[in-house]
Amino acid sequence: MERILIPGTNEVSKEIADSISRELLLKACKPIHKVFPDGESYIRIPCNIKNKEAIVVQSFIQPQDKSFFEAILIGDALREGGISSSILVVPYMAYARQDKVFLEGEPISIRVVMKTLRMLYERLFVVEIHKEESLKYFGEGAVNISPYTHMARQLGLESSNIAILSPDIGALNRAKSLSQFLKCSYDYLVKKRDRITGDIVMEPKELDVNNKDIVVVDDIISTGGTIATASSILRKHGARHIYVLVAHAIMLGEAIGKLRKSGVDEIYATNTLPKKDGIKYIDIGPLIANYLSAYG
Ligand code: R5P
Repeated sequence: MERILIPGTNEVSKEIADSISRELLLKACKPIHKVFPDGESYIRIPCNIKNKEAIVVQSFIQPQDKSFFEAILIGDALREGGISSSILVVPYMAYARQDKVFLEGEPISIRVVMKTLRMLYERLFVVEIHKEESLKYFGEGAVNISPYTHMARQLGLESSNIAILSPDIGALNRAKSLSQFLKCSYDYLVKKRDRITGDIVMEPKELDVNNKDIVVVDDIISTGGTIATASSILRKHGARHIYVLVAHAIMLGEAIGKLRKSGVDEIYATNTLPKKDGIKYIDIGPLIANYLSAYG
């Protein structure tokens, strides 16, 4: 079946769609997109899409609700136009951290997002969703794309005198699989975050990092608190260099300054979110393209 690429409505999505289109030699159909004076979005798909398979790329960047809703509008326009099937690629999946009821009275936000997407898309590819289990809410056809080995390859990381650190138990599997790829050791810290104030505390632990180059792996940097706390601990234990590999660099407020002050040497992120100073970016497009071919 002929495939057609539909770049989403924001610059991040367009950049990644361009990269996928180059890798897979796919023709792109750019949606007509505007926002009415009252704030409502307008979408039109100006191409013949009948009986084709559409690959829509839409990263749920800020404002997340708008990015999400525009993906829904695109999905509906595709169905109206007679598309045969639609795949949605979400480089950054918003609302993924609210994956359970932490405090009584809260929703499971990611469940709402997934179930809504399922109404309009047959398949979903997400870059490093906060917890892979959340894909169950979409049902069959949802795939998580883990970027860390792709990043390590692009950076030419080698195992000599390197160790991987997960800054909390949630990122432990990420650290473990990267350490298997690089054939080096890994360790983790135990983080506790106050649900009301957001303050972070890490349990004291002995770490074998003296004079080693440490790669800290996590899915998201938001305020920078998690990685900065981990990095200060690593420095106290004698780490030589500290590199951070993160899928999604949100980088709120003073995050970058906080990380530098804590001793982080370099931060590498994928281009799933708008670019910020002080971060080195790795294009995720080629990896997504590999997945799209494999699951073709
Ligand atoms: C949380 O479990 C995530 O994996 C990240 O560690 C967290 O979102 C990072 O947030 P921040 O940069 O605000 O500490």
